[in-house]
Amino acid sequence: MSREIHERIDEIEAFLSRYQGIWSREVVAQFPYDEPLVSDEWSALISNLDPDDISTIECRRGTGSLPEGELKSMLEENFALSSFYTHPQSPDADLPGPSRTSGVSQKKQHEIDTLLELVEPHFQRLRVAEVFDFCGGMGHFAAAAVSSFNVKATTFDFSEELQGKGKQRYVDLCSDSRIRFAHADVRQSSSHPLIPRLSALDGQRSAIGLHTCGDLAQCFVDAVIEAEIPLFFSVPCCYYKGSTNTQSFSEDEPTLSPEALWLASRSHCQVNIGGELGYRVKYFRFMMHLYLCEVCGIREFVGLGHSTKTLYRAGFEEYAEEQLRRLAVENPSSHRGPLREFSRRSSRIKIVKEMIASSVIRNSFGRLIEVLIVLRRAAKIGVRGYAVSVEACFDERVSPRNLLITARK
Ligand SMILES: C[S@@+](CC[C@H](N)C(=O)[O-])C[C@H]1O[C@@H](n2cnc3c(N)ncnc32)[C@H](O)[C@@H]1O
Repeated sequence: MSREIHERIDEIEAFLSRYQGIWSREVVAQFPYDEPLVSDEWSALISNLDPDDISTIECRRGTGSLPEGELKSMLEENFALSSFYTHPQSPDADLPGPSRTSGVSQKKQHEIDTLLELVEPHFQRLRVAEVFDFCGGMGHFAAAAVSSFNVKATTFDFSEELQGKGKQRYVDLCSDSRIRFAHADVRQSSSHPLIPRLSALDGQRSAIGLHTCGDLAQCFVDAVIEAEIPLFFSVPCCYYKGSTNTQSFSEDEPTLSPEALWLASRSHCQVNIGGELGYRVKYFRFMMHLYLCEVCGIREFVGLGHSTKTLYRAGFEEYAEEQLRRLAVENPSSHRGPLREFSRRSSRIKIVKEMIASSVIRNSFGRLIEVLIVLRRAAKIGVRGYAVSVEACFDERVSPRNLLITARK
């Protein structure tokens, strides 16, 4: 598997390097003054698609009605390189049913059920007796592992509030010491090892880091390798947002700009709103960016929060007024007339369509960059003496951060 991982990394890097100009910069950073990210030809091809075709591309289900040519080939190669074997799922298959455990979201329940199924054969083979759940929050995984297998668990987290809730929730498992909540900062674990080297239990030890944000995934890996844990599972998330030091994190991921790391953590196309409404969301956001830039003099990138579906359906002026209010722009209602006039200019409409086309093409690289980051991490673990594998574990429509590294001695 290690060789396969290295080969795939090489292939992805070679592919990505051909399109670096597209994925390494934010779309809004380029408009309306600089060079667009994609050629006029690619922009026109995407602009000619209907919103459902655009959703198909965004969900990596295919290339819609794009004609044969360079863009179609690029997308097909991109999707092939970022795909993993997953159990066959029809696009309309039922999503996992409602959570069986009260107070646990459908998403979390799905993640835990899936992981229990995946870890079980490994636990049996190694006769695992103790599990360490890093950044475990309320300890849902630890509790599920204790209840499903004959193991003890320790869950580490630095949030006393979450751990307090977990202790209340799993009071029975705490009282007979099957689960322990250890208050700890995982970032500091190199100076204070969290896991004692020797286990008093008759059996092996294993560890999990489920959605360890940003650099915490690396802290987790370092801590478990240091403690000589022979089997561990890592499902990383938000590759950039969780990092306190953007600079060092981007150096750790050579060739990936902070914008590219951001894009990787945003690749959740399967849970996005698609179709007409999805198109409207993009249209409004980009038109708003142009207005902020040209009329309000706000040239830097402004993260625009979500608005209600009703507001998107109402119209651009209503949406924009609400955004101006959030941005604390003085007297937002006085912008109504200028907003209407601005958003109806054909030159602005043309730019917004180009921005949408660029973003559809750029976003298609998000998953591939995520895959590259995770494969690079797996390869680094491989170098430290583990057999590693990477797979997509959760249903992406429920839990998009679903790349699992399994590492075993
Ligand atoms: C995305 S949540 C995942 C929680 C849990 N693993 C799950 O999947 O339900 C990330 C968790 O990391 C914890 N965390 C963040 N920084 C941490 C740190 N430096 N040390 C320990 N825990 C941390 C947060 O409190 C939060 O519970």
